[in-house]
Amino acid sequence: MKILGIETSADETSIAVVENGTRIIDSLVRSQIEKHKKYQGIVPELAAREHHKNLPVIYQELINRGKFKVKDIKAIAVTSNPGLPPALSTGLAFAKGLSISLNLPLIEVDHVKAHVWSVFVDPAFQGQEKPKFPLIALVVSGGHTQLMYFKSPLKSKIIGKTIDDAAGEVFDKVAVMLELSYPGGPVIEKVSAKGDEFCIDFPRPKIQDPDYDFSFSGLKTAVLYYIRDNQGLEMKKYKEDCAPLSKTQKNKLSNHFDQYFKADVAASFQRSVVDVLTNKTVKAAQKYKVDNVILGGGVAANSILRSKLALDLKEVDIKLYSPSLSLCGDNAAMIAGLAYEMIRTR
Ligand code: KG4
Ligand code: ZN
Repeated sequence: MKILGIETSADETSIAVVENGTRIIDSLVRSQIEKHKKYQGIVPELAAREHHKNLPVIYQELINRGKFKVKDIKAIAVTSNPGLPPALSTGLAFAKGLSISLNLPLIEVDHVKAHVWSVFVDPAFQGQEKPKFPLIALVVSGGHTQLMYFKSPLKSKIIGKTIDDAAGEVFDKVAVMLELSYPGGPVIEKVSAKGDEFCIDFPRPKIQDPDYDFSFSGLKTAVLYYIRDNQGLEMKKYKEDCAPLSKTQKNKLSNHFDQYFKADVAASFQRSVVDVLTNKTVKAAQKYKVDNVILGGGVAANSILRSKLALDLKEVDIKLYSPSLSLCGDNAAMIAGLAYEMIRTR
């Protein structure tokens, strides 16, 4: 059964056709990053206007590519929540229009749960063993940081979430503090590669708490104060203050103090977020006695998070499934994939 999915919850306009919830027939994702860059964050009304412009163009482009026939589509799936309200409405209106004109059922899909489904539609996992339920899922994006227990594909509960900023949101804000570009996640990861992640001992908020909730606003403030108080330090003193481990890495860098400083702040901040996310996820997976964990959302593209989480889970015999990089961020294939499961089990 082929389902056409539509995703417009934030700044990506995407349409995809997925067969039987697992095979991507065709998919297009159009990013609006360039439009929002100068505002260093997503402007909801601007996002809605761009979705409105992009949706018919992408739809026509997919049809022209000819990988499926419209008459073979059996349902229209669309992200209904959560997301930026003006952006969501644009996708919903387009999806409703298609469902009426093609006389097809309209399936409304939860965006956060759909991120978990990215692994099931991922071509990289075709022919391989799929994650087994029950499982724990960690969805980390610009808008969400959520730990969920999935008893089965459609039966889940939230066991932990952020009580303030989302993980991706702090990456974006720390990037602004370091005068790096938007979105912050990819650029912080890149800059961090030249830094020492143990140079600055930033807090790991709530890491000792027995619950599974997260809090990142204190960490954000700690980074802000660290930059304010240390940016002007003399290079030599700064080098002495840092762990000897970092010296080799530092010598490879150019002689520009700003670069050392940014790299160390970015790496130490990133390590703090990764430590908290990893610690809570491993704890949850053990408590709920699952064999598998799924990672999803834009921040799941972070290679340090992917590798540390996989390693720490492996130590306790739990397998991590992380989607391919192209399916970590917002995409319509995950929406169409989860919609199939919703129809199948109706
Ligand atoms: O899932 P997504 O595309 O959109 C939302 O639903 O929010 O996630 C976007 C977020 C942004 O905050 C971005 O900075 C973050 O994901 N992100 C990353 C990386 N790539 C994207 N964060 C850390 N490391 C990355 N490599
Ligand atoms: Zn998302």
